[in-house]
Amino acid sequence: MPQYQNIVILTGAGISAESGLATFRSSNGLWNNHPVEDVATVEGFQRNPAYVHAFYNELKQELVKAQPNPAHLALTRLQNEYPARISIVTQNVDTLHEKAGSRNIYHIHGQINQAVCQNCGQILETFGDVDTETVCPHCQIMGMMKPNIVFFGENLLCMDEVDRLLRTCDLFLSVGTSGVVFPAAAFVQIAKLNGAETVEFNLEPTSNNYYFDRHIFGKAGSTLPAFIDDLITNR
Ligand code: APR
Repeated sequence: MPQYQNIVILTGAGISAESGLATFRSSNGLWNNHPVEDVATVEGFQRNPAYVHAFYNELKQELVKAQPNPAHLALTRLQNEYPARISIVTQNVDTLHEKAGSRNIYHIHGQINQAVCQNCGQILETFGDVDTETVCPHCQIMGMMKPNIVFFGENLLCMDEVDRLLRTCDLFLSVGTSGVVFPAAAFVQIAKLNGAETVEFNLEPTSNNYYFDRHIFGKAGSTLPAFIDDLITNR
């Protein structure tokens, strides 16, 4: 097995499924019960900020109770035991990678425990409720806080650094994402075209089939630890 120098792992909602968190597009997924246009678009937030705050406040309480599963812990083990630059680029707004003790985490879709002031740009870190009456601790203006979640149509976060990571990695793992939301769905193509080996971990084939060298089907809580055991043992 080659010795990799720069590993990028893209994670999606599927890596948190075995921690009891709903994914987005499964039969009882988040988007089945709350239309995307109401809770994940700028227009939806402008139309009814109180409803959007309430949705993320409720989701926050669920996410804060969740615990990392063996898939998250396997990534932490990889970072601790494999001598390479290992970066986690996550679409997830939960903090399970942090709870698992991982580092070098890039939340490209934002984080549930953050809100951003639309007046001064200050980030408020909190697992408490945020709503239309929350006062910004920095500029003291009330009612200008927005969940620090990237809504559809908004720019992703950390993209300059993530683009550099994708263009310089020699191993790209995609774990638990349906590969239907861009630009994250194109990350495997950038990595592949820049020479990385690409491996997909999912329950089933996704629409990104073409760009993956390998597909490892099954629950990430089992397949990822086994893959990482092998990577560490045979380095
Ligand atoms: N192990 C591995 N894969 C799993 C598991 C599991 N235990 N459970 C589910 N999956 C897979 C599903 O097969 C699916 O392909 O995880 C994927 C989850 O897909 P989505 O629900 O579409 O979630 P995700 O890909 O993270 O969505 C991307 O879309 O709506 C936006 O911002 C939202 O970040 C999200 C983005």
